[in-house]
Amino acid sequence: MYVFKAAVVGAGTMGGEIAQVIASSGVPVVLKDVKQEFVETGLKKAREVTQGQLSGLVGKEKITQEQADSQLEEITGRISGTTEYEGFGDVDFVVEAVPERMEIKQAVFGELDEVTPGHAILASNTSSLSISEMADATGRPDKVVGFHFFYPASVMRLIEVIEGEETSEETLQATTNFAQAIRKTAVRCGEGPGFVVNRILNSSVSEVWRVTEEEGLDIKEVDKVIQESGTVPMGPFFLTDLLGLDTVLHVAEHLQESYGDRFYVSPKMKELVDAGNLGQKTGKGFYEHG
Ligand SMILES: NC(=O)c1ccc[n+]([C@@H]2O[C@H](COP(=O)([O-])OP(=O)(O)OC[C@H]3O[C@@H](n4cnc5c(N)ncnc54)[C@H](O)[C@@H]3O)[C@@H](O)[C@H]2O)c1
Repeated sequence: MYVFKAAVVGAGTMGGEIAQVIASSGVPVVLKDVKQEFVETGLKKAREVTQGQLSGLVGKEKITQEQADSQLEEITGRISGTTEYEGFGDVDFVVEAVPERMEIKQAVFGELDEVTPGHAILASNTSSLSISEMADATGRPDKVVGFHFFYPASVMRLIEVIEGEETSEETLQATTNFAQAIRKTAVRCGEGPGFVVNRILNSSVSEVWRVTEEEGLDIKEVDKVIQESGTVPMGPFFLTDLLGLDTVLHVAEHLQESYGDRFYVSPKMKELVDAGNLGQKTGKGFYEHG
């Protein structure tokens, strides 16, 4: 199946960049959120990312400034925003990127089943939840699949293509082809909690959270030491602020429920989330953001 038109639901930390990735590969895309201001934030993010990429190419003398200006309009012109499901009637592929809560995801999948054509593939960007449970909310479980981008979606090459209990081989193949068409490297995996990357990442980060809290260590010092070791580009607390504390907490809780206490849920993170401090997106998390 060829994807002539796509849609993204949820224009938050991930959604705006996912729309940008799709548009910059030449495919028109509709970006939906619940409020116009959230849609605008996603569209702005997509424009900024495109501008940054094109400026980089101008800097390396790969394209002229004039070409960059016209490509910017071409790419961002392929993304349209909506707060309803306007423009979903002729899409071939949808990426759901709403908060990491099964009840929200199932409600969105039920709506997508109503508003998209029967042949459309409904994909979730979930970090750890069950694809089969989302598929249960639709009448097309064979066309429901995981399509897990990594932060920041415009930069990271990997996508996990996750197979639900009823996902068809045809859907998995079309999804893998679409990943390649948008210049990503797809790995296929089963729907075990956390899939591959988050299960590995969280098992190590979990230990950092645990030791930091048990020993009363300073978060900034821990981040600094880990960053200076050169093994990763930034420390885990700063990374959590960028990813969104609510998302990271839901993933950690889900992994602990699934695998037991070897996965740690940080009480400090829970406290911050309860107070509405979700990291960069709200201006405060483990750090203050300008
Ligand atoms: N943040 C990350 O680093 C990251 C990385 C990979 C995958 N994910 C996954 O992507 C998904 C989204 O995460 P995020 O960090 O972008 O969340 P976010 O909170 O930044 O954004 C979610 C957006 O969805 C919108 N939304 C809520 N209900 C909606 C609905 N019914 N219809 C349309 N929009 C709705 C919200 O208004 C918000 O703008 C989650 O499943 C998360 O696990 C996140």
